[in-house]
Amino acid sequence: MSYKNYPMVSRVVFGRGSFNQLGDIIAPKRVNTTAPFIFLVDDVFKGNPLITSRLPLAYNDQLVFVSAKEEPKTSQVDDMVEQIILNHKDRPSGIIGIGGGTIMDLAKAVAIMLTNEGEAQDYQGWDIVKNAAIYHVGVPTISGTGAEVSRTTILTGPERKLGINSDFTPFDQVILDPELTVGVPKEQWFYTGMDCFVHCIESLKGTYLNAFSQSYGEKALELCQEIFLEDTLSDEDSQDQLMMASWHGGMSIAYSQVGVAHAMSYGLGYLLGIKHGIGNCIVFEHLEEYYPEGVAMYKAMRKKHNIFIPQGICSNLGDDEFDIMIDVALSLEPLWENAIGENWKQIITRDKLKALYQKM
Ligand SMILES: [Fe+2]
Repeated sequence: MSYKNYPMVSRVVFGRGSFNQLGDIIAPKRVNTTAPFIFLVDDVFKGNPLITSRLPLAYNDQLVFVSAKEEPKTSQVDDMVEQIILNHKDRPSGIIGIGGGTIMDLAKAVAIMLTNEGEAQDYQGWDIVKNAAIYHVGVPTISGTGAEVSRTTILTGPERKLGINSDFTPFDQVILDPELTVGVPKEQWFYTGMDCFVHCIESLKGTYLNAFSQSYGEKALELCQEIFLEDTLSDEDSQDQLMMASWHGGMSIAYSQVGVAHAMSYGLGYLLGIKHGIGNCIVFEHLEEYYPEGVAMYKAMRKKHNIFIPQGICSNLGDDEFDIMIDVALSLEPLWENAIGENWKQIITRDKLKALYQKM
């Protein structure tokens, strides 16, 4: 047995208002005046001074607003890298991603693809990346995905939805400023928060569980319960705690795996473009058989906050479309092995998955 030797985020700042330190933090990383920092910012912040008035742009630095309406694609990463290469004569000093999971993942992928040949789709998988990425910084503005702490960047490519998992993927620097999550719409807050909750359940109920993952998973779950089920927290405390829950949930799955909800949610994402957080909710509604306590707790949270979950999204799909989703879900073997055990192929049949998708 050989244990994995995981890299972690090398530096992290936590605190309300810590975003103000971004300029001081990145300044020493500027290679020269013609090697820009590229700021990838969620376009919901266009014209919003919370972010735009505080960006430490200098020299040839470039601000790129990116839509997070759709999940990140390998072709999108390739286009962004090409634009950066065309627009700047020097390789950038760094990539700063400011937004939710989509922007985090794009920042990580662009930083990798600036130093590695070929297309992003060539690197979907585990440990294919050869060269270290350029310096990259993550500033989450919504909490739950764990993308700020993870060793992957999940991309939809022409053939699959799969992460670039590598030692070069984690951020060199993360800035956790809970104040930045203030404007998140309630439904989005819930869907993304539930991504964290599902990470906890899938990690804690998985066969890969170990003391490392358990310690992070239990803490994140405790925070999620306080945030989503109890009424004891102020808005500020709730924002602070959800940011730390996201971090711990991400750490929990680093040394284990996610499970059934994620495998099936990737199928919905690939075929129907359903975004990850809401996709996890749609799937989790129907997973009592695998996670009875987790699903009960999830439903209590959903009811308490009166959140709408779409239904019937698979009702008009044909057999070939179900097959595509089932293929995507089944291809994620480590997730099933974690969720069910080594004999998962005997238990998780195509018919079983089709019956579950038909309920959604
Ligand atoms: Fe997730």
